[in-house]
Amino acid sequence: MEKLQIKDKTFAVSIPAAQLQKEICRVAGELNRNMEGKEPLFLPVLNGSFIFAADLLREITVPCEISFIKLASYAGTHSTGEIREVIGLSKDITNRHVVIVEDIIDSGLTMAHMIETLQKQNPASISVCSMLVKPDALKVQVPIDYCCLEIPNDFIVGFGLDYDGFGRNTKDIYTLVK
Ligand code: IMP
Ligand code: MG
Repeated sequence: MEKLQIKDKTFAVSIPAAQLQKEICRVAGELNRNMEGKEPLFLPVLNGSFIFAADLLREITVPCEISFIKLASYAGTHSTGEIREVIGLSKDITNRHVVIVEDIIDSGLTMAHMIETLQKQNPASISVCSMLVKPDALKVQVPIDYCCLEIPNDFIVGFGLDYDGFGRNTKDIYTLVK
């Protein structure tokens, strides 16, 4: 099993690139069907979703706009639960079909806050598209409309996701070896 060392931690491949790509294509297909005629505004959440967004959006064939936003609430290997503001929203989302593009939903607190914030600006709809979801880690209920894979409640890196800033630049996803 291929290993990855980041600082004090060892990670092993858990989701190979090919498997991810297959699921990304499936989700893009669902979005293309559901967003037909809606001119969606995709809002990928930086930093973690940049690779997922790049791969997903190149499979989107309906006319759409893309604008990156940022909201961080994570440090080290445990969610801090601390909430920060949505920044970088440069588009008017009034009456728009908004699709939030996330790397991973863990406790769900970040997404719940994001939805609440965006809802105040009266979009036509808000959909959530997350590459990964940890169902066993959810602390609040979040509507997850599109999801590539559900994963166990373990800490992962790669494909945009980091451990203390490192590990985002891998093709596969790795899980922490305990
Ligand atoms: P939540 O608010 O607990 O759902 O966490 C949201 C954010 O925490 C995600 O968008 C990620 O950026 C980060 N995160 C959650 N789980 C992991 C992980 O296993 N590895 C790296 N980052 C993670
Ligand atoms: Mg994120």
